[in-house]
Amino acid sequence: MGEHRIQLDTPLPLPCGATLPNRLGKSAMTEGCADHLGRATADHERLYRLWGRGGTGLLITGNIQVDRRSLERPGNVRIEGPQDAEQMRRLSAMAEAGQENGAHVWAQIGHAGRQAPAGACPEPVAPSSVPLKMLRWQQQAPRALREDEIENIIWRFGNAARVAKEAGFRGVQVHGAHGYLISEFLSPRVNQRTDKWGGDLKARARFLLEVIRTIRAAVGPDYPVGLKLNSADFQKGGFSHEDSMQVVEWLNHEGLDLLELTGGTYEHLSLLGVKVDNQFEREPPRASTAAREAYFAVYAAEARGIAKMPVMSTGGFRRRESMIGALNDGTCDLVGLARPLCVDPDISAKLIRGDVDETSVYEHTTALSEAEKQNLLPDEIQTATVLGQQAFFFMTLYDMAEGRLPHVNRTLPGAQAELVAREDLITRNLI
Ligand SMILES: Cc1cc2nc3c(=O)[nH]c(=O)nc-3n(C[C@H](O)[C@H](O)[C@H](O)COP(=O)(O)O)c2cc1C
Repeated sequence: MGEHRIQLDTPLPLPCGATLPNRLGKSAMTEGCADHLGRATADHERLYRLWGRGGTGLLITGNIQVDRRSLERPGNVRIEGPQDAEQMRRLSAMAEAGQENGAHVWAQIGHAGRQAPAGACPEPVAPSSVPLKMLRWQQQAPRALREDEIENIIWRFGNAARVAKEAGFRGVQVHGAHGYLISEFLSPRVNQRTDKWGGDLKARARFLLEVIRTIRAAVGPDYPVGLKLNSADFQKGGFSHEDSMQVVEWLNHEGLDLLELTGGTYEHLSLLGVKVDNQFEREPPRASTAAREAYFAVYAAEARGIAKMPVMSTGGFRRRESMIGALNDGTCDLVGLARPLCVDPDISAKLIRGDVDETSVYEHTTALSEAEKQNLLPDEIQTATVLGQQAFFFMTLYDMAEGRLPHVNRTLPGAQAELVAREDLITRNLI
C-alpha cells in the first residue's frame, strides 16, 4: 500500500478550519429512538458512544427534523424553535457520547416534505401538489407550500443548526437528497411552482441555497457545514446529473465544508443500490477500483472535478482496497459507510488497522423466502427485498441503541414485522 499517498487514517482539513481525524465517515442513518416529544434519549447516547469508540472519524446523525408536521419517520429527533433545557441537555449528551474519543459528530438536519409517513403526518407538504408514487406510504397528495411557509422552513433550518452548534455537535449536514423537501424543490417533477421558488434550475435551487446561507449566517464562518446532495434522482424529468453538477458549481460560492454525493428518491431506491432503468449508465473510468462496488463513485469523481470543497462518496463501499483507491484516484476525499456500521460499529478501526479486507454486511445474504416471493413480479421482489433489508438494518440499530449485540439472524419478514409493531407504537404515542 506504500504507493498510496492518502491512507484511511490521514486527517482531512476542511475549509472552515476544522480537521476530521480520518477518511471514514458514517453516513446519516435515522435512528427512530426519540421520545414522543422528539427529544434525544439514552438510546442515542448509547449508540453514538458505541460508534465513537469504533474509529469512524465523522459520525453524521440520522436526520433531525425541523418540523413535527413533516417527519421522515416516527421517532425522529426534532429541533423546532428555542429548545428547552432538557432537550439541550439530551442533545449535548448525544453529541458528547460520540465525541469523547475524538470523532466529530455532525447533526443532519432535514425536512421530509411529501415523503412523510401517513400515520404520523396527516397533511404532507411539498413545493407543489404532486403525489408520491409509492404504495402504502403517503397516499394523499401533498399540499403545496405557501411562500410564508417556505420562508419559515428556511428559518427553521438556520435555527436547528444554531441549536446543534450550541448543544456541542461539531458540525451540521443539510439533507438535500433522497426526495425529501430540498430535493423536491430541486426536482422539476415535484416543483411545478411559477413563483420565485420554481421554474428554471436557478429558481428551483433557490430554496437549497437560501437554507445554506441562513445556516452559515447562524453558525458563523468557522463551523463545519455540509450538504448531502443527489448526483441525480434517476427519474425521467427529474433532477438530472447535469443539474446536479450545475448546483455544485453554485455551491462553490456558499462556504460549504463537505459535499456528500448520493442519489435516488423513495420512488427510485437507487440510494440503496437498487438498479432500475439503467441509472448507473455512466462508464466507470478505468483507473477506478471503487466504481465496481460503490455505485455513486463515478458521479462523486465528476463532482470532485468541479467542487471547491471536499467530497464524500457514499453507497456500496465494502472493500478496503476500493476505499483507499477512491481516496487516491480523485474519486473522493472521504468514504461514507452506512449499512456496514449497522452490524459492526468497530468496522472503521478494523479497516484502518488492516485487520479486515472488507466489511461484513448482510445485504447479500438476506433474501425473501420463496413463499414471500410467490406473488411478486421480479421488480417488486427487488424493491421488497431492499425494504426488508432496510427493516433489518433499522432493527440492528435498535439492538445496538438498546445495549444488545446486533442480531443478524433475523429473516426479512421477521425484521419487517418487528419494525411495523415498533413504529405503530411510536406513532400512537406521537398523536
Ligand atoms: C438504516 C438506514 C437509515 C438511513 N437513514 C438515512 C438518513 O437519515 N439520512 C440520509 O441522508 N440517509 C440515510 N440512509 C442512507 C445512507 O446514509 C446511505 O446513503 C446508504 O445506506 C448507502 O450507503 P451504504 O451502502 O454504505 O449503506 C439510511 C440508510 C440506512 C441503511
